[in-house]
Order: sequence, then structure tokens, then C-alpha cells
Amino acid sequence: MARQDFKALELTKERHEKLKELIHHHDIQYYLYDKPQITDYEYDQLLSELLAIEEKSEPPLNLDLNLSDSPSQRVGGMPLESFKKAKHSKPMLSLSNTYNIEEILAFDQRVRKFLELNPNSTLPYYCELKLDGLALELIYTNGILTQAITRGDGETGEDVTQNVRRIKAIPLKLSTDNPPSLLQVRGEVLMLKNDFEKLNRQQQEQGLAPFANPRNAAAGSLRQLDPHIVAKRNLRFYAYAKGQIQGITFDTQQSLEKYFSDVGILTIQSYNQITTARLCHEINEVTAFYKNILNHRHDLPFDIDGIVIKVNDLSLQDDLGEIARSPRWACAAKYEPEQATTQIQDIIVQVGRTGVLTPVAIMTPVRVGGVLITHATLHNFEEIKKKDLRINDDVVVHRAGDVIPEIIKPLTEKRPAHSKPYQPPTACPSCGGPISIIEGEIAYRCLNPLCPSVVIETLKHFVSRKAMNIDRVGDRLIEEWVTIDLIKQFSDFYLLSKQQLISLPRMGKKSVDNILKSIEASKTPPLDRFIYALGIRFVGQSTSLILANHFQSLPAFLKATESELLSLDEIGPKVAQSILTWIQNPLLILDLEKLLSLGVTPHFSPIQVSATNPLVFQKKFLVTGTLPLERSKAHEIIKSYGGVIASGVTKDLNFLITGQSPGSKLLKAQNLGVTILSWDEFLIMCQTET
Ligand code: IVH
Repeated sequence: MARQDFKALELTKERHEKLKELIHHHDIQYYLYDKPQITDYEYDQLLSELLAIEEKSEPPLNLDLNLSDSPSQRVGGMPLESFKKAKHSKPMLSLSNTYNIEEILAFDQRVRKFLELNPNSTLPYYCELKLDGLALELIYTNGILTQAITRGDGETGEDVTQNVRRIKAIPLKLSTDNPPSLLQVRGEVLMLKNDFEKLNRQQQEQGLAPFANPRNAAAGSLRQLDPHIVAKRNLRFYAYAKGQIQGITFDTQQSLEKYFSDVGILTIQSYNQITTARLCHEINEVTAFYKNILNHRHDLPFDIDGIVIKVNDLSLQDDLGEIARSPRWACAAKYEPEQATTQIQDIIVQVGRTGVLTPVAIMTPVRVGGVLITHATLHNFEEIKKKDLRINDDVVVHRAGDVIPEIIKPLTEKRPAHSKPYQPPTACPSCGGPISIIEGEIAYRCLNPLCPSVVIETLKHFVSRKAMNIDRVGDRLIEEWVTIDLIKQFSDFYLLSKQQLISLPRMGKKSVDNILKSIEASKTPPLDRFIYALGIRFVGQSTSLILANHFQSLPAFLKATESELLSLDEIGPKVAQSILTWIQNPLLILDLEKLLSLGVTPHFSPIQVSATNPLVFQKKFLVTGTLPLERSKAHEIIKSYGGVIASGVTKDLNFLITGQSPGSKLLKAQNLGVTILSWDEFLIMCQTET
């Protein structure tokens, strides 16, 4: 053998030893302590690297590896000592993983090849969600729940029968007059996202550590030694496979799962019009299902990490059998994980429009849920202290859907000894001025109204689309213009001249013309947008609309008194005080007067009451999900028919208009009996003659 070949083989053997050690370590963290240090994705990467190396121990390479203690020799981790051990009569296997369409197609090809199917023959697959909980086996003897065993290492698990009997979602007796003598039902125990949030709030109130995610909460609950606590945790069980069975036979995966639900055991079928299990006749239907579920991932009440693809015909499943640790007849098609580990490189502090200081973590870029993330808001300094986050910490980050990435926790075990807690700033990082905590709030604020950051953010808000809509003036220009002192208040936009702008670097004649045109076009805003543009604290779009509808002119609004403001629905003392502080500030009023003298004229157009439809007029509407038109356009149309835009789902809400991926508002509205409409149904209602 050539010298370099020999060297390469030695390195491969070394890597194999290292991988065994790493996987063993992470198995213990995950199975024994319920404290994973790496994501499932990273773990799977280690495992597939290990398995790839082990293939080299087979001919033709016959690499001499020590496999006796390899994690590939057993299925999963080890059971906890505190429960009685119990052996599974058939081992509980794992699934092989795929991560994209090509790998799903390759799985289909492998199955077809093994079964020696000709390319034209159909091979139906039963597909369903891959639930992110813990696997459990329920044993029903003559229809009675006699034992429940966790997966454990796949051969032996923990006997959690006492605890499982406390879970209301699991029937103690099958609903059938003719039960089989033995039915081993396998499925997933999990906690719904809502229940998880509720539990964590309780944990915090009681000064206990919150759980990192619903999976850990479910695992922690199932392994509670006190069954009373289990009873309170509202765990769920969804069945998806069989163990040993006697006295009954099934032909297909679909009919097996149908039987489970017929006898009263929850299965994954559908949720809120989302098909979550489906019989697919072609592999293209499988990949379409995989993509579709990804779009609905966040509308589901529980966490999933992919879908599971199973050959539907049970006799074919038997023919296919299993290899090493997983069945040949099934695979998981996983989505990118929503949690990952990375490092905090720095903590910077941003100063917002209202002077609030917000710490932001700058992280080593990492992919989470298919998106590269680099920043996470830390909300406030109290949060940093509570989580004890430090610069250079390795951290677990989470990102779900459109939610802003969040740091869940630091990995304190990896922290070097010399690390020091983070020290919040003692002065405003933008203007160097003093900062203080406002009574009743936790945020630090810079109180200098001339602080450059405050000015920049205030002006950015003023020109934004939903405010004055000066579309040619973007964030970068405002930052530049404030820095060179070209603008510092609202009226300055309307004083800008062609000569001033053209003399600035990177400014062409055409773009200057466009900028000035777009400033000019903004001069006649509707009153509500103008009020919103002022950026008064706590006065968002809907409050601005309420104020505009009530006062109907700018001078009337500027004369508002506390009692008049408080007489308005939805305006409380905090908002009223904030408005009064603004309209009593002489500097701001001076700027306003200048604006008006430069030709800015907010206008108010009352709703044409006679033309409105009583089905819609003064009814409260809320829009959720993606509509066929822009959200702001939809609001305008609703308002043009006299409808009112509500701020949340309450029992006073009259209609919830839903688009695609409606989210949790839909469920809440349904529970409150609110009428649900699609956009088309809303339009039909508006045009209904009354
Ligand atoms: S079928 C392998 N169906 O995935 C035997 N498993 O990685 C058949 N899982 O231990 C399993 N949802 O905890 C199956 N719909 C589903 C599943 C599912 C989640 C879990 C299960 C298993 C793990 C394998």
C-alpha cells in the first residue's frame, strides 16, 4: 500500500473513534439528561458521517474498525434508572432521514429496486407529519391498557404505565366490542405549543426553570415520578405504527391508522383544514405533500420536524424488512431545524424612535429554519441578566416562521473561566447623554430629543409607507442627511432644494427630481396617516384612525383635552398622557406650524354613511393570513364600506377575514364564535343589497 493511502486510512480510523465518542456524549445529554447540546440536524450529520465511515469496513476496503461499541450497534440511547425497565416484544426502530426532494426520490428508487418493481407500476405511500415528541408504546390486552413503555434504547424502555394512565388523551379501554387479544400501539407523546407556553409561564411564576421547547417539556412530564403532576400537564398521544398484534390483521398502513382512530386513539389526520396525513399514489404527490406541510408548519398546534413516508401496503413492508437500525419501508423527510447553536460575537445597543435602548446580539451566521441569521434582539437588559448572556458565549438560537430570531439560552458548560457578565451601558451609545429607567418600565431610555439616533428613527417613521409615504427617501438617505445636518425635523424635508441635493455625493439629476417629486406628492395626507406619522408614543395606525375620526381636523386634535381623549373607546390614561405631552411640546408644535406653512395639508374625508352597507357599517373586522391583496389595501376597502379594523380577537369582534396560513387568531375566533369569512365572501357581503 502506498504511504499516503496508509496515512489516509489511519486518519479515517481516528475520526471513527472520535465520532463514536462524540455521539455517545450527545446520546447521554439527550436521552439521559434531556439536555441536548446540539440540534438533531447536527447529530444526524455526525451519525451519517459515522455510518459512511463504517461502510468502509465492508468489502472491498475491509477497513479494520472497532464496531463493538459503535452507536450503530444499538438503537438510540439508554433508559433512565428511576423507572422499572421493560423490554419491547419487537424492537422500536428509528427512521432513516432525507432532507430534500432528491433524497426523497432516491428513497423511492431504493424501495422500488428492492421490490424489483417495474418503473411503470404504482407504489402508494402513506405520508403524515413527523411529530417532534417522544415515542411510546401502549399495550392493550383484550382491549384494556395494560402497559406503557417508552422507546428507551429501542430494545428496552421504561415502564411508565402509572403515568400514562393519567394522560386523558390516552384511552384506558379501546372503544370496540370485539377487541383483539393483543394490540401494541406505537406513537408520539407531545405537548401542544399553547400548553407549553402556559406551563412555562407557571414555571416562571413559581421560580422554576422554564423548559427549552415542547419536546423537552413532554419528556420531562412523562418522566415525572409523581403521577399527579403528569395529570396536570395535558400531554397528547398520536398513534402511527404497530408493534406486536394478535387476533387482528391489517392490509395497509392507512387502514391500520384508521382502526386506531376508530377505537379511540388519536392519529394524525387533519388539523384546521390542513391535510396532515395523506395516501399518495405517486412519488410526486409525496414531494408536493412535503412542500405543502412546510408552508403550514407554523399553523400547526404542535412542533413537527418533517414528514414520514411509509409504504402503504403492509405485506410489502414485511418484504422490505429492516437494516441495522431502521425499516427499509419508511423514511423521514425532514425540514431544516428551527434551533441551532452559534456564538455571540458582540452585543450592540440600538436607540429607537422613542429613545428606548435595545440590546441586539451579533452572532456568527448560522442557518436556522432555512434562513441565515446573524442578529437576534435581546429585548432589554433585564432579559440579558435573566438569561445570563455574555459576549463570546455559545448559545442556542431559535427562529420560527416570520418570528424574529431569539436566543434561548447560553451553553454555560462551554464558557471559559475568565468570562464576565455583560455590563449594560451607562450612557446613550448614540449621543453619549444620560439614560434612565422610566418608572413602571424595564427599558432604559435616552431622554435627549436631539439624540441623532432618535432623530433618525423619528424621521424614518415619518416618511414610511403607512405614514407620509415619501417613497424615494429611504433609510440610508435619512441617516446621511441627519449626519450632515441637512435635516433634523419634519419640516426640513419640505425645505430641501434641488441645488442642495445635487451637490451631495452619489446624487444624479434624475434621482433628485424623483426625490423632490415624491416629497411634493406627500403634501396632502389623510388626517389619520398624518397623526400616525408624528410618531407619538403608543399611537399606532388604529389609534390614529380613531383620533382622526373623532377630531376630524388637525387644529381640533391639537386642542384635545385629557377628558376628551379618555372619553374615546380604546384610549386609556397612558396613551392620553403620551398624546398630551406631544401636543404640549412647544418645539414640536413649532415644527408642525412650519410644516403647515410649507403647504402640508392633512385632510379628513368622513365615511359616506348613506352609501355604506349595514352588514358592514361600524362592524369590527380583523384580517389574518395572506390575502389576495395587500393588507393595507384590504383595510382601506373595509373602511371604505364603513367597517372598523379591530386590534385583536375579542368577543366583540364581528368578522375575522382569513387568507392563507391564518395562524392562531383563527382558532381563537372560532372558540369565541366569531364569524369567519374569506376575502371573496367579504366582498360578496359588501355587495349584498339590504
Ligand atoms: S413511524 C421506525 N411515524 O420518529 C418505526 N415515526 O426517527 C416507525 N416519529 O422514533 C416509526 N412521527 O418517535 C413514525 N408519524 C410518524 C412519526 C414518527 C414521529 C418519530 C418516532 C420515531 C422517530 C424515528
